[in-house]
Amino acid sequence: MNILGIESSCDETAAAVYTDDGLKSNIIASQAVHEQYGGVVPELASRAHHKTIWRTVQQALDEGSTNLADIDTIAVTQGPGLMGSLLVGLCFAKGLCLARDIKLIGVNHMDAHIYSNFIDNSPEFPFVALTVSGGHTQLVHVTGPFEHKLLGQTRDDAAGEAFDKIGKILGLPYPAGPVIDERAQHGDPRFHDFPQAMLDQDFEFSFSGLKTSVKYYLEDQDNKERFLEDHLDDVCASVSYAITEVLVKKLRNAVEHTGVDTMTIAGGVSANSMLRRKANELVQELDIELHIPKLAYCTDNAAMIAVTGYMMAERGMFSDMNLKPFANLKALKKMRA
Ligand code: KG4
Ligand code: ZN
Repeated sequence: MNILGIESSCDETAAAVYTDDGLKSNIIASQAVHEQYGGVVPELASRAHHKTIWRTVQQALDEGSTNLADIDTIAVTQGPGLMGSLLVGLCFAKGLCLARDIKLIGVNHMDAHIYSNFIDNSPEFPFVALTVSGGHTQLVHVTGPFEHKLLGQTRDDAAGEAFDKIGKILGLPYPAGPVIDERAQHGDPRFHDFPQAMLDQDFEFSFSGLKTSVKYYLEDQDNKERFLEDHLDDVCASVSYAITEVLVKKLRNAVEHTGVDTMTIAGGVSANSMLRRKANELVQELDIELHIPKLAYCTDNAAMIAVTGYMMAERGMFSDMNLKPFANLKALKKMRA
């Protein structure tokens, strides 16, 4: 099987080729246009996808030493994501499928984050999967291939979104997650106790209160600018501490509740060094296995879409040309009802 994966759910236009011999290419065109706005502007994202998608796919085929004639299935992100962005990828994939008589598979972006663990490894089922990105924070009990039980998710901001929004309050560039991570390494994580929300709930998350708490904490300082000059690293460390404590406490709950021997972490925030350290400590203590994909497969990419498409194709999970994008899980449920 030769699978072409296409991802365009947010601000990354990406294409990858995955075959029986594994991953052949993985191309990502990131959209710099959003930086000046401190966040993704949906309309600009759609236009940028439109402009770069053909070039990106061509490059993935070239680097994978293959061409369209050899591709038997196109796996494309169906959702969740920005509707305009999803539509560009989906319409492009359908067009190619129709023109070249290629099979189509619609991939759930959140599933793909979970199965990104299968690009270089093969975690044993069942396992608990934490997906932490700019758009999502989810704990899933994966009992078998494509058998998922959602344990909990965020009620408001995603973990990455919290990093990014707090970064904005601190005057840091977007996306702020990596910057806060770097600064946190030079600061004191216990400098200030920021709130760890919803610890009374086993698996649900909430991060918007933390953002508000950072805002008020800074406003309480006599001279905010001077305070940040002296303590930016400490604030970054304390914020990282609060976010990662919640994530790891809920991971522990999920592993203990399900009794699994393996856990996985994926999504952009899995790059976070404090989270990685704490997750490693947790698996050592619980004597279980931890899988975190290579960094390039943690942030949004098409390799994860292609590998998920490959696993779906093996199970005959193909889509038809009526495949429609969905912006969020609520819309997906409605579509299926
Ligand atoms: O998975 P991803 O590339 O895109 C989404 O699907 O959202 O995740 C991007 C998010 C951003 O919010 C970014 O700030 C965050 O991941 N991120 C990090 C780190 N690297 C990326 N957050 C904390 N620490 C990091 N090292
Ligand atoms: Zn993602």
